[in-house]
Amino acid sequence: MREFDVAVVGSGYVGLVTGACLAYIGHRVTCVDKNERRVADLQRGKMPIYEPGLEEMVARGRSAGQLRFTADLPGCAREAEVVFIAVDTPPGEDGSADLSNVAAVARSIGRALSEAGERERPLIVVNKSTVPVGSGDYVSMLVREGAEEAGNGSVDFRVVSNPEFLREGSAVYDSLFPDRIVLGAESREALDTMRELYEPIIEQSFPAEMDPRPKAAVPFVTTDLASAEMIKYAANAFLATKISFINEIANICELVGADVSSVAYGIGLDGRIGPRFLSAGIGWGGSCFPKDVSALRSIAREYDYEPLLLDAAVCVNERQRKQVISKLQRELHTLKGKRVALLGLTFKPNTDDLREAPSLEIARTLSSLGARVVGYDPVAAKEAARLQPELKAAFDPYEALRGAHAAVVVTEWEEVRSLDPARAASLMEEPRVLVDGRNALDPERCRRGGLLYRGFGRA
Ligand code: UDX
Repeated sequence: MREFDVAVVGSGYVGLVTGACLAYIGHRVTCVDKNERRVADLQRGKMPIYEPGLEEMVARGRSAGQLRFTADLPGCAREAEVVFIAVDTPPGEDGSADLSNVAAVARSIGRALSEAGERERPLIVVNKSTVPVGSGDYVSMLVREGAEEAGNGSVDFRVVSNPEFLREGSAVYDSLFPDRIVLGAESREALDTMRELYEPIIEQSFPAEMDPRPKAAVPFVTTDLASAEMIKYAANAFLATKISFINEIANICELVGADVSSVAYGIGLDGRIGPRFLSAGIGWGGSCFPKDVSALRSIAREYDYEPLLLDAAVCVNERQRKQVISKLQRELHTLKGKRVALLGLTFKPNTDDLREAPSLEIARTLSSLGARVVGYDPVAAKEAARLQPELKAAFDPYEALRGAHAAVVVTEWEEVRSLDPARAASLMEEPRVLVDGRNALDPERCRRGGLLYRGFGRA
C-alpha cells in the first residue's frame, strides 16, 4: 500500500475516529482543530469524547509516529495530499444545516494552497461533514475564493464527498469494518486516489485482532457528488423512519393487546425488512438522525416539495417522548410532589453524548408538571444536570431510585438492563411504577420484584 500524508480537520466524533483509523491502517495523519485546548489535551492523550477503543487507538498512533495533533490548518493543508473536512454542521433555526464551519475551513484551505504555490498533484479535499446536496460545488467555490483572496486563484484541487456512517459507541469498529465506503466526485482521478487511500479497508488487509475478521472485503461505491451527499441523508432518514414505523406499530399493539417484540421478530425475519432498527420505545435522538432528517426536509421544501413521510416520522418520534409522560400520569394521576428517577440519560448507551437526548426533554416536562426528577447515568449524569438544572444527578441507579414513586428507563446501558427489580422496589415508594422506555427489562421479573411494569407496545 502507498502511505499518504493526510490532514483531518475537526477533531470531534467523526474527525478524530477517522484520523485515528487512517493512522492505524498505515497513513501519516495530522488531526487539526481550531480549539487549542482540545489540541493540547489530545497531544497529552486526553480524549475530548467518550468512545470505546478510541483512546487506545490514538495512543497507538501517537507512539508509532503516525498520528499528530495541531491547530495549524494552513501548514497541514500545504503538506497533505488529502484533506478531510470533518467539522460539524449544526442545524440552523429553520432546520437546515449551518455550513459556516465548513465554509471557514474551505476558505482557509484555498488560502494555504495559494500561498504554497505549485503542487506535484492536485490536493484532494474530502467532505466528510454531512452537507446539503450541492455542497460539493459550494466547497469548490469557497476554496477558490480563499485562494483568490491570497492572490492566486489558479490552484489545483479536487473535491470529493465521502459520507460517514459510523455510529457513536461503535465508531472505531464501524470505521474499520464498514458496510460500504461511498465516494462521490466528478473527477475519476480523485476517485482512484481515494480508492488507493482506503485500500487496506476495502481489501481488509490491515492487521486486526479478530479471528475470524467480521468482513472479507468492503464494497466501494463510486458516484457523482450529489448522489453521494444524498446517500447519507437517505440512509439516516430511512433508519429513523424504520424506528418511527415500529413505534407506530407498537402503539397499535398496545391497543389491540399484541406484543411489539414478537411482531418485530416476526417481520424482521423477512429478508426484505431485516431485524435491525426495530426496537420500539422512546424513539430516536442523537446528533445525526434529528439533524439529518430535518435538513432533508428543509432541502425538499427549498424545492417546494412537502416530504410527507419524513414529516410523519418526526411527528411519531415526538409523540413517543410524550407517551412517557402520559404513561406516568395514568399510574401516578398527578405528577405534583412525585419523585421520578430517569435511568440512563445519554441518547443511547456507550456514549457520553447528550445531544437531542430524550432524557433532557422528559426531565423538563416532568418538572414543569411539578415532579422532582433525579437522573442516573454511568458517564453523563453531571453534564445532564448542568444542561438541565431541574435534573438532580445520581451516580448509582439505586441512589436515584431511593424514595422515587416512578422510574423511567430512558437509555438501556448495561447497568440499567441488569437492574435488580426487587432491590429497586424495596427502595421506591408506592406505586413503584417502572416505565421501560426501551423494552429493555423482563416484565415478568419486574412484576415479581414488586414493580408496576409499563413497557412500549407490550400487552
Ligand atoms: C446514526 C446512524 O446509525 C449512523 O450510521 C450515522 O452515521 C449517524 O447516525 P448514531 O446517532 O450514533 O448513528 O446512533 P444509532 O445507533 O443509529 O441510534 C440512533 C437513535 O435511534 C438512538 O437514539 C437509539 O436509541 C434509537 N434507536 C435505534 C431506536 O429507538 N430503536 C432502534 O431499533 C434503533
